[in-house]
Amino acid sequence: MEFNEKLLLPDIPNLHQIEVYEENGGYQALKKSLQMSSDEIINEVKRSNLRGRGGAGFPTGLKWSFMPKQSEKPKYLCCNADESEPGTFKDRYIIEFNPHSLIEGILIAGFAMGIKTTYIYIRGEYYKWYLLLQKAIDSAYQKKYIGEKILGSDFSTDIVIHRGAGAYICGEESALMNSIEGKRGYPRVKPPFPAQFGLWGSPTTINNVETLSNIPIILNRGGEWYSKIGTPKHPGTILVGVSGHIKKPGVYEIPTGIPLTKIIYDICGGILNDKKIKAIIPGGSSTMWLKGDEIENVTMDADSLKAVGSSIGTAGMIVMDEDTDVIKVLKRISHFYHHESCGQCTPCREGTGWMEKILHSFEKNEATVSDIDLLLDVANNIEGNTICALGDAAAWPIQSVIKKFRNEFGKKVNKNPIQKVVNPPHLIVS
Ligand SMILES: Cc1cc2nc3c(=O)[nH]c(=O)nc-3n(C[C@H](O)[C@H](O)[C@H](O)COP(=O)(O)O)c2cc1C
Repeated sequence: MEFNEKLLLPDIPNLHQIEVYEENGGYQALKKSLQMSSDEIINEVKRSNLRGRGGAGFPTGLKWSFMPKQSEKPKYLCCNADESEPGTFKDRYIIEFNPHSLIEGILIAGFAMGIKTTYIYIRGEYYKWYLLLQKAIDSAYQKKYIGEKILGSDFSTDIVIHRGAGAYICGEESALMNSIEGKRGYPRVKPPFPAQFGLWGSPTTINNVETLSNIPIILNRGGEWYSKIGTPKHPGTILVGVSGHIKKPGVYEIPTGIPLTKIIYDICGGILNDKKIKAIIPGGSSTMWLKGDEIENVTMDADSLKAVGSSIGTAGMIVMDEDTDVIKVLKRISHFYHHESCGQCTPCREGTGWMEKILHSFEKNEATVSDIDLLLDVANNIEGNTICALGDAAAWPIQSVIKKFRNEFGKKVNKNPIQKVVNPPHLIVS
């Protein structure tokens, strides 16, 4: 169906103010939910087919159903507002323009899962957004939406903001929990999964900001209604963050299933200086690249992007024009993953640095032809061999760029090579 409504970021001035939010139906979904049972709420979310917006696309209702009903320990919800992936900048729009939708979503999730405390983990650098969110939380406490015996019910819960210190790895859910616990942000080996052994060993659910902001909409208008927006397997509206060589970069709310070309040309006005597209990264820096001539029949949803060997990730789309030096871009992305690797797993700790170094040698025209396969080999040996998905995130862009732009590497090799080996970083002796 044609769907033009903006559900997450509607054009309502001052919606961040609690009174304006209330005037526009805010906190009605919470009132409704408090009259429902936990199972009824979770089933409504299941019916909506909502899939997580933090990158992995896990079904939200199913995730909530993993939380034990009874627990001797307190249960926790972590809202992931770390948003540190290059190309991803949509959660902070919700925090700035519609923070109460997030707070209301947290409260409904909290009631459905019996949550004692929700921690919103926000990237340390987002100081402005931290202040805005704290202000919104304070006003919701004043109006008794948060705290003891919410709206006269038996449900009591708290929301606490926890500021990170600028580490991308702390967006990974188990590193995030370690960080809240005051430990080093190392991802944990799973199982046990957070619903069994999460924050301080207690049952915990982790959800992204955008995921939780969808919850009041689903409870207000029904899971079935929501499930009909966009594509059936990945329904709803999504916030697409478009950046790069694009005339009108920004965050756009669209139903899933919109063609990528429509987003680029109709919504974002096309490519700067009307150039051609060389490549796009569809869902944040960790997703597989697509060539410009591959995107014609691709739509912005999990299945369509999977079918062409990529993924929707966080729907942070980076567009590159025909003049882009893809190796330079790849080297910059590799630098990020090398810098952000927590160092716990050997393939990622050593491999990310090694890949950056090889790409550097291509940039300087010092690499040999065999370095293309060496680079691919290092990437292949990282993928699937680490505790968390940061290793995969570092490997996927490299694998896809070698597959699709191998000739660009060829153009940059040293034409007069004296055999030169790019050693892994730890083998370098000065
Ligand atoms: C290295 C790394 C960084 C991540 N960063 C974020 C992040 O900033 N925000 C986020 O919501 N999810 C992030 N994720 C995904 C989370 O681990 C988790 O899947 C997500 O928060 C679950 O929420 P959802 O089910 O609502 O999507 C990251 C994953 C990895 C491996």
